[in-house]
Amino acid sequence: MSLRQKIDSTRLPAHIAIIMDGNGRWAIRHGLDRIFGHQKGVESVRAVIEASAELGIKYLSLYAFSTENWGRPDDEVSALMGLMVSSLNNETETLIKNNIRLTSIGDLARLTPDVRERLNETMRLTGACSGLTLIVALSYSSRWEITEAVRKIAAETAEGKLNAALIDEAEIEKHLATRGIPDPDLMIRTSGELRISNFLLWQLAYSELYFTEKLWPDFGKEDLYDAVIDYQKRERRFGKTNVRSPEK
Ligand code: IPE
Ligand code: IPE
Ligand code: MG
Repeated sequence: MSLRQKIDSTRLPAHIAIIMDGNGRWAIRHGLDRIFGHQKGVESVRAVIEASAELGIKYLSLYAFSTENWGRPDDEVSALMGLMVSSLNNETETLIKNNIRLTSIGDLARLTPDVRERLNETMRLTGACSGLTLIVALSYSSRWEITEAVRKIAAETAEGKLNAALIDEAEIEKHLATRGIPDPDLMIRTSGELRISNFLLWQLAYSELYFTEKLWPDFGKEDLYDAVIDYQKRERRFGKTNVRSPEK
């Protein structure tokens, strides 16, 4: 039986989020410049998007560039932005053909105009696609997102549009970059690091976490299947006793 056949298609995670880590180490181990690791990582991105779409996953979030990653050397930041633009140039047609809608979360105002325009154009072109929703986290950090949400809520409260006493979790969710997107069921991090690195702190409250030693450029379809199979063995309790899904 192949790994893919071991997956129960009636109990798929609706939303998978991935911290794609380890490109630099992959390159160093192959005696190459870090940039080549990022290039190779694009192939893994393609593989997990394809595997997710084939499985029938509804939402896939990929952490591509964090707020903190702006602090890397200029040449690495430019190379990563260049890769973003070339990947979008190369893949937009395939996204449309496979009915994949691209959206993004993050502080896009910090991107250079060429990156921002290319991203906006792909989001516009795929806007009507109804299969997999691909969420790219770019110039994103969870604390940035939560700070933005607090600022908007405070402004609306000051204008009298919101009543402070009535602000609840649903109201906060409406002000997050991920509004309308269900919380991740499964969060995968590659490269052996056991941390969240400022990714979806609010949304990961009850996600199942899966860590693998594999470096991102070595991660492929079979590795995604492994993670989903592991997820399907877990019992999600949401603070309750022996229940499979939360009582909302
Ligand atoms: C992940 O790989 C890609 C980004 C963070 C943009 P890294 O570049 O962090 O690779 P390592 O962790 O240094 O190996
Ligand atoms: C997290 O990886 C960010 C992305 C994968 C985009 P990092 O490599 O930036 O995280 P740390 O520095 O190891 O925590
Ligand atoms: Mg890293």
